[in-house]
Formats: sequence, structure tokens, C-alpha cells
Amino acid sequence: MDSMHAIRIHSYGGPDVLSYEDVPIPTPGPGEARIKIAASGVNFIDIYQRSGQYKGQLPFIPGNEAAGIVDSIGADVQEVQVGDRVAYAQQLGSYAEYAIVPAGKLVPVPADIDLTIAAAVMLQGLTAHYLTASTYPLKPGDTAIVHAAAGGVGLLLTQLAKLRGATVIGTVSTAEKAQFARAEEVTSYTEFAEVARRMTNGRGVDVLYESVGKDTFDQSLGTLRPRGYLILYGQSSGAVPPLDPQILNAKGSLFLTRPTLGHYVQDRAELLARAGELFDLIAAGRLNVRIDRSYPLAEASAAHTALASRATSGKVLLTT
Ligand SMILES: NC(=O)c1ccc[n+]([C@@H]2O[C@H](COP(=O)([O-])OP(=O)(O)OC[C@H]3O[C@@H](n4cnc5c(N)ncnc54)[C@H](OP(=O)(O)O)[C@@H]3O)[C@@H](O)[C@H]2O)c1
Repeated sequence: MDSMHAIRIHSYGGPDVLSYEDVPIPTPGPGEARIKIAASGVNFIDIYQRSGQYKGQLPFIPGNEAAGIVDSIGADVQEVQVGDRVAYAQQLGSYAEYAIVPAGKLVPVPADIDLTIAAAVMLQGLTAHYLTASTYPLKPGDTAIVHAAAGGVGLLLTQLAKLRGATVIGTVSTAEKAQFARAEEVTSYTEFAEVARRMTNGRGVDVLYESVGKDTFDQSLGTLRPRGYLILYGQSSGAVPPLDPQILNAKGSLFLTRPTLGHYVQDRAELLARAGELFDLIAAGRLNVRIDRSYPLAEASAAHTALASRATSGKVLLTT
């Protein structure tokens, strides 16, 4: 057997450009490992890479996170051995039965964590971790707004924020999603500013985690306390237009940052520390990972349609 199933993209476009094909099983080079993938995570970045909003080299195998078993290693690999259970993020090519990954990007998965759970928390979980622990290190007494609080990142972010002692106001679009959200106060995209004022006695929240972007950004700016933090980490509704920095003065000497995971996982030590904390919390039953749905690899297009259309609440996986 020297071929595998994989999704490939030959031209940018809608979900139908995700083509299920037979391709050769790749061979790891020096410093690389080959992973037999158990589950691959579906993320918003996959949609941007599929549509051409983020451009790469065509054709390519999409997907940026997975968990599985090391099935072969190249020369000079110290970090893992054949048979290890591992997970990773930020390496293109996970929508496949096998993927080649630089060994330094692989995180060992503890025996008591299921590989599907590990796949589910590499990208969204590491993101929720750096946002709450590093971009704005939340502390007891802080109040935070989390947009899309029932989404993949949102569910994890809310829980990590509460574990750090913060009070969370979460926004969702439907009553059904409100049931999944874990914020102290769950509200709508039209009412969150009012709720924030009420919950902080008119002062404003300490930090707002903005992943919706275009549709909510202006209103989000108005919910912060003086010298509060607006953390724009996503744009699920579209890109925020350019803004005049003077607005940050007018709204209270605010801080605005546009962070991305790569800058918060700068080396292997930082990767292992963040992932290790997530796995410890999951194993201890303190961090719940909600897998909304799993699709067979061949149905990747249905997974993309579900995520883009706001139909999901939690993680979307592809299984091989
Ligand atoms: N900067 C980083 O390091 C980083 C890392 C990971 C993800 N992200 C970003 O974080 C965001 C959330 O990612 P995720 O994978 O966890 O997705 P998700 O939150 O599970 O899904 C997106 C959610 O956004 C809400 N939404 C509001 N307006 C929307 C619109 N017009 N179209 C689609 N969704 C809309 C929906 O929730 P409601 O129906 O409740 O409104 C939807 O379920 C994405 O923008 C992603 O690019 C950034």
C-alpha cells in the first residue's frame, strides 16, 4: 500500500473545491515524522486558505491540525519515536490519512486523553490559552466579553477565563447556542454593550475578545473601561476596515492588538508548556471540550459548509 486518501485543492473557491483523491503516501525527510492521522481539526483558517483569502501554492492538501500516531521518522529526529501518540497545529496538510510534520511541532498526547480530544484543542485550545494567559493575562476581579462564546475558541476561552477568576459575558446568535455557552451572562450581539454597562456599574469591561470582526467591532470598542484591551483575534463576519488611531483616545486610551497563534508559540518550550496545561486541565475534568460533529474525511466540504454557516457550536473534526 503506497497511496492514501487525502483532500486536495487545485483552485480556490467554495467547499466544492475540496477534492477527495488518492495520492502517494509521503516520506519523512530529516527532522520530520510521518503521522497516521486519527482526527483532523477543521478551523476558520482552512476556509480562508480554501477560498484564496490566504494564498499559498496550488495544489495543496488543506488542514492545519491533527492528532495521530507516529508511523515513521526521518533522520535526526529526537523529539518522538515510532508509535508515539501525538498532536500538532500550524502545519498544512492534515486533511489526509498521513501527514509529514517537523518533529519539533509534535506534542505528546497523555495516555488518558483521547486522540480526537487532542486534535480538537491544538489550534482553538492553544489560541484560547494564549489569549487568556498572555495577550491579556486575566486575573480575579476582571470582567471580559467573549464574542461567539459558543464557538470552538469561544467555549474554551470562556472556561479558561473563568479558571483565571474572571467574570465572562458571552455573545451568541441563537437560544440553542446559549445553552452551550459557559459564560456567567450570555447575551446577544445587539445587547452586549448594555449588559456590559450593567455588569460593571457603568465602568466598562477590562477586556473584550473579538472574533466576529466587521459586524461587532465598533460596538465592541464602546464597551471597554478606560485603558481597557480590545483583542481582535478573528473576523468570522468579515474584515474590520482600517481605523483612525484617534478613536482609541476618544474611547478611553484603549489598547488594541491583532494577535495570532504563531507569535505566541515561538518555540518548542512554549508549545509544550501551553499544550501541557491544556491536557492537564482536560485530564483533571476542569476543561470541557465540546466536539460538535465529526465527518469522514471524504465529507470535508460538508464540514466547511457547516462551520461557515454558523451551524456549529464547538469543534468540527474529520476522521480517517
Ligand atoms: N488569531 C488567532 O490566533 C486565531 C486562532 C484560531 C481562530 N481564530 C479566529 O477565531 C474565530 C473563531 O474560530 P473558531 O474556529 O472557533 O470558529 P467558531 O467560533 O466555532 O465559529 C465562528 C462563529 O462566529 C460566529 N459568527 C458571527 N458572525 C458570523 C458570520 N457572519 N459568519 C460566520 N460566523 C459568524 C458564529 O457564532 P454565533 O452563531 O453564535 O454568532 C460562528 O459559529 C475565527 O474568526 C478564526 O479565524 C484566530
